Amino acid sequence: MLADLALARALHVLAVVHWIGGVAMVTWVILPALRDGAADDPTAMFERIEGRFSWQAKISTLLAGLSGFYLTDRLFAWERFAEPAFWWMHAMVAVWAIFTFVLFVAEPLFLHRWFRARAARDPAGTLKLVIRMHRVLLTASLVTVAGAVIGAHGGL
Ligand code: HEM
Repeated sequence: MLADLALARALHVLAVVHWIGGVAMVTWVILPALRDGAADDPTAMFERIEGRFSWQAKISTLLAGLSGFYLTDRLFAWERFAEPAFWWMHAMVAVWAIFTFVLFVAEPLFLHRWFRARAARDPAGTLKLVIRMHRVLLTASLVTVAGAVIGAHGGL
């Protein structure tokens, strides 16, 4: 049956749009606005906004991972992981693994505490660092999205 493949692909792309789109909004809109004085207490505001997005991103990463592995199995695509030409498959799993680690392990265990402590000492420097980290992750995610769409549709 092909409907399950189409539905899994739609779910995969929807989850990626919500998750990476949210990261773009935080990186390019919310963090720069906070850096430029949009709130009296940028650290508290960032925590409130990120907190709201964090549980949504958890659901999206979970759905993207489940649908991604389903697609891999359904397309008999496991051998791709042995071929460098399918670097975009590795990139998808790498981006997914990094975000999964940050959202489900690092944030609850230590990242949140580290952020609070560092922001209390140096709010402006911490915001700059957070912006830089978001830029790196967003760039990797966007390169992956482009690579995956090109790769899944026959390559260049
Ligand atoms: C566990 C992680 C993931 C796995 C196993 C996975 C697997 C897959 C598979 C098998 C496909 C179909 C490829 C084909 O049709 O030949 C696909 C498509 C795609 N994936 Fe992933 N993926 C994962 C995570 C991600 C992430 C994190 C992103 C974005 C950063 C992403 C973006 C895409 C995009 C844009 C497509 C192309 C959809 C299309 O144009 O048809 N995936 N993925």
